[in-house]
Amino acid sequence: MKMSMPSTSFASVLGAAAFGIAMLGAVAGASAQAPEIAARQELMKANGAALRVLVPMVRGEAPWNAAAAGQAAATVQSDAAKGKGLFPAGSTAPNSAALPAIWERKAEFDAIFDRQRDAAANLVRLAAAGDEAGFKAAFPALGQTCGACHTPFRRPAN
Ligand code: HEC
Repeated sequence: MKMSMPSTSFASVLGAAAFGIAMLGAVAGASAQAPEIAARQELMKANGAALRVLVPMVRGEAPWNAAAAGQAAATVQSDAAKGKGLFPAGSTAPNSAALPAIWERKAEFDAIFDRQRDAAANLVRLAAAGDEAGFKAAFPALGQTCGACHTPFRRPAN
């Protein structure tokens, strides 16, 4: 039949077009979510890892290691400095735990990052000076900044 060839290729053209449209949809879906969301979640995971190094040391459950303590504090310091730039207005998504309060009270939110950065910088200095007692005494000023932000500004995990 003369008709079968054109109709077969028409079907394959349609199939290719449908595939192209599906791909476009996937790309549009990905770009609809702000890249800052994944970046800030990675940054927060690094904060969590840093605290898993610091907390046992401060509690005396792990041996004091000035180099490791200084490195973990430096991670939190740089994360705090970068954090403010990772919450652009409207960067919400179902997989983000960021609460709208962030953008209603952005100055308050940013100020906690500043406090965290300064507290971490102080710990970096104390670790470099080998001041174990000073580091342990100053640690709560850093540790409390995590919860001070999460309580008002992060959706609690269920
Ligand atoms: C100024 C606010 C603020 C500070 C300070 C802060 N966080 Fe967060 N954190 C958030 C917000 C908001 C989220 C949710 C981000 C999202 O899902 O978009 C979050 C998420 C997290 C997560 C979950 C990451 C994930 O998606 O798996 C961890 C872990 C975390 N933070 C640890 C910490 C630790 C540890 C500290 C202290 C060293 C800290 N955070 C300091 C605001 C903050």
